[in-house]
Amino acid sequence: MGLFELSAAELLRRAADRQVLVPAFNVAHLPMVEPIIATVAELKTYALVEVARPDVEKFGARSFAAVAEEYQRLADRGVTRLHLDHVPVIDEDGQEVDWRRLVGEALELGYDSVMIDGSRLPLEANIAATRAVAEMAHPLGRPVEAELGAVLGHEAGPLPPYEELFASGKGFTDPTQARRFVEESGCDWLSVAVGNIHGAISAAGRDQAKVQARLNLEHLRLLRAATGVPMVLHGGSGIQAEYLRAATSEGIAKINVGTEIRQAYERTLAETDDVARAQAAVADSMRSLIVETYRMEGSAERLAE
Ligand code: 13P
Repeated sequence: MGLFELSAAELLRRAADRQVLVPAFNVAHLPMVEPIIATVAELKTYALVEVARPDVEKFGARSFAAVAEEYQRLADRGVTRLHLDHVPVIDEDGQEVDWRRLVGEALELGYDSVMIDGSRLPLEANIAATRAVAEMAHPLGRPVEAELGAVLGHEAGPLPPYEELFASGKGFTDPTQARRFVEESGCDWLSVAVGNIHGAISAAGRDQAKVQARLNLEHLRLLRAATGVPMVLHGGSGIQAEYLRAATSEGIAKINVGTEIRQAYERTLAETDDVARAQAAVADSMRSLIVETYRMEGSAERLAE
């Protein structure tokens, strides 16, 4: 019994089928790898350890190689896999990114799954970039996450007021496009926009408290019917618990959590100048998310059966 021999693709399929929510915790600072792995092992919760390009470029994750090395040193593969989060084709500052090189590097380093984010591109170009990544990853048996729709928040500059955004559905993933996108791109998991927004990463916004986002569950139902693949919620910090639990019954299998644990780490480090205490703050904030918000303590056992 155990999850050791299962691929990340199989694990997320099982999670979607069994309505298990898999948290994916962003490593914004390298010392966060240790409490992330220790806490999910302690709570027997299946989770992904993930790092995104912004974690390397704007925070203290250092490099994909450094995170992979730390993960491989500490990994408990009974409860975790290593995921490459957001490699954008066009980044939050409007810059073109050498995404083929970054994805190729991560695959070589042993990342179990990878994300390509072409969501700032027109549909056709997003499909083409995602297809190219699927052609790199699938022969190695690694699944690919892609994004369609606008999960706002990473860009510098003010967002429209949240309630206005939510009510208008502006940027929500379009179900007709999503059906075509999944069929033609070959993606395994789809990140969708249904009211979720990312925590800020700009210098001006990164310390601010995040809005308590809601989710349009009706819209999510349409996307589930259209796509048939496990769906992913980005911008997991601060989403209200009742929406998360409902979303888990509507096809959301993975939730990305960055801001909440990053701010716990940074705040404690600033107050105490003690990395061990900052790591403990990460573990505390994860315990409360896993046990109270997601109610996913013991989920690794549910997936192993
Ligand atoms: P938050 O920082 O809002 O938790 O979002 C994390 C995320 O989606 C990383 O891809």
